[in-house]
Order: sequence, then C-alpha cells, then structure tokens
Amino acid sequence: MRIIVHISDLHFGRIGEGVMPALVRAIDAIAPDLVAVSGDLTQRARKREFLEARSFLDSLRFAKIVVPGNHDVPLFNIVERFMNPLGRYRRYITGDLEPVVCDSEMIVVGLNSARSYASGTGGGRLNIGQVDRAVRHFSTAGRDLVKIVVTHHPFDLPAGHRERLLLGRANMAMARLAPAGADLFLAGHLHLSHVGHAFERYKIAGHRALVVQAGTLSTRARGEPSSFNVLRVARPRLTIERHTWQPDGQTFAGSWSAEFQHGDEGWT
Ligand SMILES: [Fe+2]
Ligand SMILES: [Fe+2]
Repeated sequence: MRIIVHISDLHFGRIGEGVMPALVRAIDAIAPDLVAVSGDLTQRARKREFLEARSFLDSLRFAKIVVPGNHDVPLFNIVERFMNPLGRYRRYITGDLEPVVCDSEMIVVGLNSARSYASGTGGGRLNIGQVDRAVRHFSTAGRDLVKIVVTHHPFDLPAGHRERLLLGRANMAMARLAPAGADLFLAGHLHLSHVGHAFERYKIAGHRALVVQAGTLSTRARGEPSSFNVLRVARPRLTIERHTWQPDGQTFAGSWSAEFQHGDEGWT
C-alpha cells in the first residue's frame, strides 16, 4: 500500500493562525510515502512567502513531489513575470519543474501548468512536449504500477463551475495520457475538494481514471474550510479521505472518505 498526502494552494502569506503547525503534526501522524503539493505555494510569489514555503517543506521528513501554480508566477513585476516567471520558485522550491517519483507500486509525474501570460487570469495549460514526456514515463513503467499525474490546474470541475477554470489543452493531454494508463489525476486551483470520473467528461473508451482535487490550506476559502486529502492506494483498492481544519480544536480531523475498486472498468 502507498499513502499519499495531497495538499494544495497553501498560499503562504495568506495562511490562518495555527494551520501550518497542525498540518505538520497531522502529516507526521499519517506518515505518508509521499506528499504531493499541487501548486500555489505562495500568495504573490514574494521572496518571504517562498522562504516560508521552503521551511515548511523542509519540516516534512517524507518524500515530496511539488509543482508550481499560477500564484507562484509574479503578477505585478512584469519584467520577472515574462523574463523569468518561475525564477523564485526554482531558487527556493525546486529547479525540477517536471518531477517524477517512482517505486515498486506507483509512478507519480508532476507537470507544470503555470504560465506567465495567464497568471493574471489564473489560467494554465500543458503543451504536447510535456504530455509526451509523461506518456514516456508511464510507458516505460511496469503495467501494474498505479500511474498518477500531478498538476495545479484541474482536469475536471465540480458541477456549476466555469469551463475557463479547467486546465488548458486538457482534451489533448487526456487523449494522450489515457492510453498510457494514467489512473489518477491530482490537482488544486479551485480551492474546493472534489472527486470526479474522467469518463464523464472525456468519454475515452476503456479509460476510467479518477480526478481528485484538494482544497486550499489558506484563508482564500471558497465556501469550504481548509482541508487536504489522504489517498491510500492498494490496487485494486483506493481510499480517499478528506481532513478538514477544526478551528476550535486547532487541528485537522477526517470529514469525508470514499472507497474505490479498480477493475476492467477502472476505478468504480
Ligand atoms: Fe490557489
Ligand atoms: Fe491557482
């Protein structure tokens, strides 16, 4: 079994009192095999926000995979935004914008969807080269490994959300990643927790991946308290738990969970 803690949209600079120490304690108690961070580590890509994010990451003693979000690209400094959009992210977080973690049970590929021209509108996208690199990683991995993609912008939306919030070129990406066996898509950006079935949106024959959103850990809540997800992957079973901030107890507590079974039809 592999345990993945999936956190997103930390927005250092806009984090509520007590949340970070409680998050570190919660992750420590869960003792995951991997912490997946799906972008927006900072609020405005400021040096001090990146330093706080760096020190948070350093305080976690577990393997990590991190991708940037649109907020990790400077918004107001136009020169940096276009000349070196992820310069600070590279300096303080990681120079690897497309990290890969692989072991005997899973392969996890991170893809950078943050773009300079879209950082003001929050949009993001992938290009064919990025997707094809992920496809190559999945194709050379064992058939039985669970194949996981981490992006900031989401491959699916909860009902009622505007389509412009979707990852740009998601159709192109899904058409290539589905035949490569991508099983699970982890993302953030919406500041809302959500689990969707890729088949409902993409309708690719024989492909039944799950699309999992983590909420935010910042005060930029959109009708949902701070939260993160825990995925327990033991093919053919997958459990997804949501842990939600409890301000009264200054702690995170399990608030929702669901179990999925993997078969010929994917996760059901
Ligand atoms: Fe965000
Ligand atoms: Fe975002």
